[in-house]
Formats: sequence, structure tokens, C-alpha cells
Amino acid sequence: MPNQPEFPTAESLRIRFTRDQIQSRVREMGRHIREDLHGESVVLVGVLKGAAICLADRGRAINLDCTFDFVAVSSYKSGTRSSGAVQLIKDLTEPIEGRHIIVVEDILDTGVTLSFLQSHFERHNPRSIRVAALLDKPSRRIRPIQGHYIGFSIPNEFVVGYGMDYAERYRNLPDIRILDSIPAS
Ligand code: PRP
Repeated sequence: MPNQPEFPTAESLRIRFTRDQIQSRVREMGRHIREDLHGESVVLVGVLKGAAICLADRGRAINLDCTFDFVAVSSYKSGTRSSGAVQLIKDLTEPIEGRHIIVVEDILDTGVTLSFLQSHFERHNPRSIRVAALLDKPSRRIRPIQGHYIGFSIPNEFVVGYGMDYAERYRNLPDIRILDSIPAS
């Protein structure tokens, strides 16, 4: 069997945001979204896989008539770097024409993924497109994308947990932790 990289235990990683900090911020963002939408219905679109946990919490925090949908993209990321090429590998299943949509992301990094997705969604004539991301790394941006609802801005740290992974690990952590050194593969 090939050598498997050794992954640090979740407990050994430094906590960046606790479960309570995340939940309280998600509730605040939910209130802002509800106020902005004046009681109108909305489609929450989660970008798999990282946004799955955010979407579940956000959906419960906005207290509006809403439906869920998901897209998935392949961004040809290698380790922590993105090649800039994005391909849609799972599209929406419900029509969005004339509807408010909120694209739910765990993290906004270079902006390449959202820039691609915004253009894709605009072709379906939604009534509005807003972006809600729990984390934002503005220093990494290479596309002019801004989130409408941002939980926390962070420097260029590699974070895992609350949906975010390294090599598919750590997504299920309830808090967000920092992976200081990337395990050798
Ligand atoms: C992450 C995150 C965003 C994207 C943001 O997904 O969930 O979709 O990166 O990065 P960008 O702003 O540089 O485009 P990732 O590609 O790691 O896939 P995953 O959600 O399946 O973990």
C-alpha cells in the first residue's frame, strides 16, 4: 500500500473561531439577510462541498420562505493553490429566473469560483444575486468579487473545519482551526 500522509489530529490544531463565535455570527448574518429581503422568498445555493454545513445553519438562521439548491465546481486546485480554471460539475436543479438567490460559501479566497458562478447564474436571469460567505481572505483576491454578507475576514491562513477541508479531512469539525503545516504526501 502507498504511504499515507499523516494528518494532525483535530485537537492539535489551533482554534481560529469557536463553535459559539461561528453560530453567533451566522445568526447575525441571518438577521441582516432577512431585513434586506423584506420577507420575500429566496433560493439558497450552496457550493459543494465546503458550503454544505454553512447552508444548513444559514437556512435555519434566516427565518424566511426559502428553498435549497446546490452546485459543484471543479477548480483544479492543487494543494493550496488554484490554477484559475473552473468547470461546472453539478448544476442547479430548480429554475432561478425571477428569484432572489443567495450563493452560500464557506470561504471567499481568490474569487475565481464565485466570479465563474456569478456569470453562470446571471445567464438564468435571477431577480438578484447576493453572496454570503462565512470567511473572506481579501488579500488573496485575483477577481473583483465582494461578498454581500461576510462572517469574518482573515489573513492568508489555511483554515479547516465547519465544512472546510484539507485533502477531504476536518470538514466535520464544529469549530474552525488553523493548519499551520501541510502534511507531506
Ligand atoms: C473552496 C470554497 C470555495 C472556493 C473558494 O472550495 O468552498 O468554493 O474554494 O476559492 P476561490 O475564491 O479561490 O475560488 P474548494 O475548491 O476547496 O472545494 P470544496 O468546497 O469541495 O472543499
